Amino acid sequence: MKIVFLGPPGAGKGTQAEKIVARLGIPQISTGEILRRAIREKTQTGLEAQSYIEKGALVPDDVVVRIVRERLAEEDCRGGYLLDGFPRTLPQAEALATFEKIDAVVTLMVPQELLIHRLSGRRVCAACGYTTHVDRGEEKCPKCAQNLTQRKDDAPESVKNRLVVYEEQTKPLVDYYAGQGLLKNVDGAGELEDVTKAILAALGCN
Ligand code: AP5
Repeated sequence: MKIVFLGPPGAGKGTQAEKIVARLGIPQISTGEILRRAIREKTQTGLEAQSYIEKGALVPDDVVVRIVRERLAEEDCRGGYLLDGFPRTLPQAEALATFEKIDAVVTLMVPQELLIHRLSGRRVCAACGYTTHVDRGEEKCPKCAQNLTQRKDDAPESVKNRLVVYEEQTKPLVDYYAGQGLLKNVDGAGELEDVTKAILAALGCN
């Protein structure tokens, strides 16, 4: 199955994507993760993307479309995949439609005050990408014992900007995919396991 996850920053796309790909046996393609890795590795793409990401703006369409197109051409994507964080603009969605046929688009719906709580308390492991929240009280990464840190784009100014960018540039995709009969709205505000179950049900995978 070829799935797209839509939803504002902090909606739980990355967290839920991990559960869904484990269940369905497909790869998770997270453009945010690919770009952050490129920044860590100081590649040309990383250098280009860094300033956009840190201030909470979108990386130019041509850069992300190229990354996704190359990634989806790899062998492990033949049987399906979950796109986490792509497309995020109408031109990206239109570009995707020229080389892929998507089966379902899941939108995680979460009220804004909860998004801000989730983003301001999110902590990540710089070594392995493990994501948690200060509410869970973890002091070190439970997978590799490294320190947990805050993403630069989870600083308050950047979060504010990302929420505006979502409303202006990404939310129009809800109508775009609804018009194609692909949209599945899921309440993303509940407990982790409940949201996973709701997504699987929306995809017809119980
Ligand atoms: P990206 O990494 O995709 O960021 P995002 O879309 O802003 O989403 P987040 O990762 O912030 O949130 P999420 O929905 O994955 O939430 P999470 O599961 O972590 O992109 C980063 C940047 O890269 C962009 O701003 C842009 O610059 C660039 N970029 C990426 N793709 C691009 C594209 N296509 N075009 C252009 N630019 C692009 O959860 C958040 C927190 O909540 C965590 O602490 C988690 O533990 C907690 N949580 C989650 N679910 C629950 C729950 N049910 N109950 C309690 N806590 C929960």
